[in-house]
Amino acid sequence: MSGELQTIRRLYRNSWRLRTSAVLGDPVAAVQNLARGSDGHAAYERIRSRGDLVRGRSGLCMSATYSVCDEVLRDNRFLVAPTSTRRLKLTPLPEQQTDFLVHPLDDSLASANLPEHTQLRKRVAPLFGGARMRARRAFVEELVERQLDRLDTDEAVDLIGEFALRIPSLVIAELLGLPTSDHDRFARWGIEFGATVDGARSAGERRRVHVLLAELTDYFAAATAARRRDPGDDMISALTSAVDDGVMSEAGLVSTCQALLIGGFVTTANIIGNAVTALSAQPEQHERFAAEPDRAADVVEETLRWEAPAQYSVRIAGEDMELAGHHIRRGTPVVALLAAANRDPEVFDDPARFDLDRPNARDHLSFAAGVHYCLGAGLARMEGEIALRGLYRRYPGLRRAGALTYCPSRVIRGPQRLMVRTR
Ligand code: HEM
Repeated sequence: MSGELQTIRRLYRNSWRLRTSAVLGDPVAAVQNLARGSDGHAAYERIRSRGDLVRGRSGLCMSATYSVCDEVLRDNRFLVAPTSTRRLKLTPLPEQQTDFLVHPLDDSLASANLPEHTQLRKRVAPLFGGARMRARRAFVEELVERQLDRLDTDEAVDLIGEFALRIPSLVIAELLGLPTSDHDRFARWGIEFGATVDGARSAGERRRVHVLLAELTDYFAAATAARRRDPGDDMISALTSAVDDGVMSEAGLVSTCQALLIGGFVTTANIIGNAVTALSAQPEQHERFAAEPDRAADVVEETLRWEAPAQYSVRIAGEDMELAGHHIRRGTPVVALLAAANRDPEVFDDPARFDLDRPNARDHLSFAAGVHYCLGAGLARMEGEIALRGLYRRYPGLRRAGALTYCPSRVIRGPQRLMVRTR
């Protein structure tokens, strides 16, 4: 049988098994089986109702409990990326698990474990330091003002395409030193990547992932080569020195650039899309924010808590251990449901409610925790705050006007198209 045919049969068999398990009441399979772009909270609540850590029929474990998710993210005995199993010679994960969880940016910082991760992070983290980010503030403010002009119309307009996606993608292009005219390409890559980051479920999707990764790799290989010839004050130029010092491989450089581009902008755009969705559904909260747009930082934190732009993080147990009263065998994947942890009633009162005055909104796990805590958190917060302040200051009567479709993803949560009226 040809390899392609085998792949098709395997994907079909695994999808079928998963659907059957979900129908038979396996709550873990039900989360894995969520339709892309659908609201996962009811399925996450079923995990919560079964305990702090729930093992599915496939062996995959999930937690919707804040304290357990936090522990998994902070405990370095848990490793990132299912590919770790190959590198660290752990028992390979059953296909049924990897097909749904593999993160393709293999050589990036986000997929590295200690001690390699510490070295890489030391080289990348200074690029996101406070002073560097503060220096970008004026650039972001000016950019937001220009993009707000695009919404100045009597017609209904797509807030995501015309505004929300443009801010972070133009910011990241500037940071990486890429031509801003490539913005449309970045938007397409970000959306396609979001749709497939949790693995392919058909041969067609698998091919799309390969094509996408090849496009991204070619693009960044050319961009890094260009920066080497003609260095500037940008992140790619700064990172090429990490390659020269032997801290990062050439493939790692390309993967890290991909991670910055892809990880850094659909998620950030979702702060804007999710905030407008939440505020539109709660007119009293909308009124208050429109009257006090300087509370944008509170809106950003509560939005991140209310709907995590990246719904979960995956870790692999690097050794046998105890977790939440369960024995976890080395090599077991554990999914920390960040979106569910953010709605844990033990930590957040009336968690499904969007509340501008929530005192502990900032305790959310949307940027994860521990050594892999999001490097772009400060940047994303700044962009979200400036964009939302500008948006409600300029258009206090902003309201939804029909269609709202979500990104076709199980991991990335936020509107892909959100029609609004500004007048
Ligand atoms: C709202 C926006 C964002 C969200 C919700 C978000 C979320 C996350 C999460 C959950 C992780 C940890 C993944 C894991 O534990 O497996 C992470 C890591 C990371 N994020 Fe973000 N992110 C956002 C914006 C950004 C931006 C703007 C950048 C950069 C331009 C960025 C760069 C990174 C990097 C490099 C890592 C890997 C850090 C490491 O492994 O040490 N992120 N992000």
